[in-house]
Amino acid sequence: MKKICIKGLAFAALLLFSLQGCYYDVEEELYPDTGCDTANVAYSTTVAPIIADNCLNCHNRASNFGNVTLEGHDNLQQYATNGQLIGVLRRLDGFAPMPQGAPQLVECTIAKIEAWVADGAPDN
Ligand code: HEC
Repeated sequence: MKKICIKGLAFAALLLFSLQGCYYDVEEELYPDTGCDTANVAYSTTVAPIIADNCLNCHNRASNFGNVTLEGHDNLQQYATNGQLIGVLRRLDGFAPMPQGAPQLVECTIAKIEAWVADGAPDN
């Protein structure tokens, strides 16, 4: 009798485990952040190149669309610390979605910028 109960439990656990597997598969599709390394994010090697590739054609010192300049650490840091940078990247309510006229940056890219902002947006 006891043996059957344990078997039943094992089966239930197995079922739960496999269901969980499916659940995680779906989540990965929705939020593809597997293998996203946000550990060694720095301004010079990570953040500046992302901004250069996606933002500076409109937000460099010369063509500062919307009067927003993101060129150089000090300029970008301002928008990092006042919440606007993450607001526009995450397309939160009340922020103009950026990059304007283009798809949202991929999850891992935004996560890296968030890690840098959470770190105090240092000039590293
Ligand atoms: C095609 C041009 C273009 C690109 C590319 C672009 N922006 Fe913008 N951005 C604008 C314009 C125009 C405005 C001001 C008008 C507005 O608020 O819609 C603006 C406004 C902003 C603002 C102020 C938002 C606010 O709510 O007041 C921030 C911050 C910003 N952009 C960040 C970014 C970042 C970060 C990127 C790159 C990921 C980016 N932009 C890419 C054109 C652009």
